[in-house]
Amino acid sequence: MRVLVTGGSGYVGSHAVRELVRGGHDVVIYDNLSTGHRFLSDGYPLIEGDIADGDRLREALQGMDAVMHFAASAYVGESVANPRKYFHNNVESALKMMDAVLETPVRRMIFSSTCATYGTPRQLPITEDSPKDPINPYGATKLFFERVLAAYSASAGLQFVALRYFNAAGAIADGSIGELHTPETHIIPLMMKAALGSAPPLSVFGGDLETPDGSCIRDYIHVSDLGAAHVKALEYLANGGPSISMNLGTGRGVSIRELISTFERLTGRTVPHSYAPPRAGDPPVLYADASLAERVLGWKATRDLETILASAWKWQQKIESQM
Ligand SMILES: NC(=O)c1ccc[n+]([C@@H]2O[C@H](COP(=O)([O-])OP(=O)(O)OC[C@H]3O[C@@H](n4cnc5c(N)ncnc54)[C@H](O)[C@@H]3O)[C@@H](O)[C@H]2O)c1
Repeated sequence: MRVLVTGGSGYVGSHAVRELVRGGHDVVIYDNLSTGHRFLSDGYPLIEGDIADGDRLREALQGMDAVMHFAASAYVGESVANPRKYFHNNVESALKMMDAVLETPVRRMIFSSTCATYGTPRQLPITEDSPKDPINPYGATKLFFERVLAAYSASAGLQFVALRYFNAAGAIADGSIGELHTPETHIIPLMMKAALGSAPPLSVFGGDLETPDGSCIRDYIHVSDLGAAHVKALEYLANGGPSISMNLGTGRGVSIRELISTFERLTGRTVPHSYAPPRAGDPPVLYADASLAERVLGWKATRDLETILASAWKWQQKIESQM
């Protein structure tokens, strides 16, 4: 299939692009490079454009069979401090993108949603039926857009899969691409930079939370496993599967303390760190029940925490040596 990948020059999108091509699909990346990086698109067709630019997008959609929509503003903390940016980019611009899509024959869409749509869970693991009550503007924008897709699915024949990722982590096995956000706010690169001395000691937000070791618990999912799920979701839609939202995680919660100790054991490095108050909009525990994706897509995460950390470490060392 021919797939337009919005946000394909970003972290998750660039890994999905490689999985799509490996799966025999043709891709065109559509990205405004606001947080993405041109080199992550090297070797793949890239149209530089904003999702709000209907004319450019309609042209890019010519001959496409599906859209994978990764393009968004994606920092929880920034969304709390600057919600306007999030409502503008993730809702207003995304609605303009949908207007352009619906003016073309393209009716298949795969959307990067998030566990932030659930807010603070009342039960664990989080299933797709868990209440959706986002506690930060980022999660609110993603939930709103899922509802847009559901409405357009009912009214305009759109077929969509919304994939609610938990914490994307790791890097492609060959070390050619990996996680690179500017500014970096994600825990694994920050931990590795602290270990390398290229960033200040890691601030761990929350040291006496109501969790077994007092630190935050997250479900880290390898970014290439996420990419593989997108390929499966595309095939699911091509086979006429009905619109659906589903979790993508491993089902295993990992605390920050465990993350640090596993990294230290794997690499022999020490992570200088200190504890800071919990961040607004940051639930203490999040991990997925990912069984729906297994039942519907035949997909399951295949890479464990050690693989995630080893691949991220390979990437981080490479990128630091180039800076
Ligand atoms: N990284 C995670 O752990 C995680 C977890 C859950 C969901 N997600 C979602 O996955 C998607 C990708 O996240 P990421 O971590 O790769 O972030 P990223 O910032 O690396 O990638 C986002 C990409 O979208 C592009 N973009 C942003 N706004 C755009 C616009 N208006 N027009 C065109 N391009 C635009 C950016 O330039 C960038 O290349 C986002 O939708 C995010 O909400 C990420």
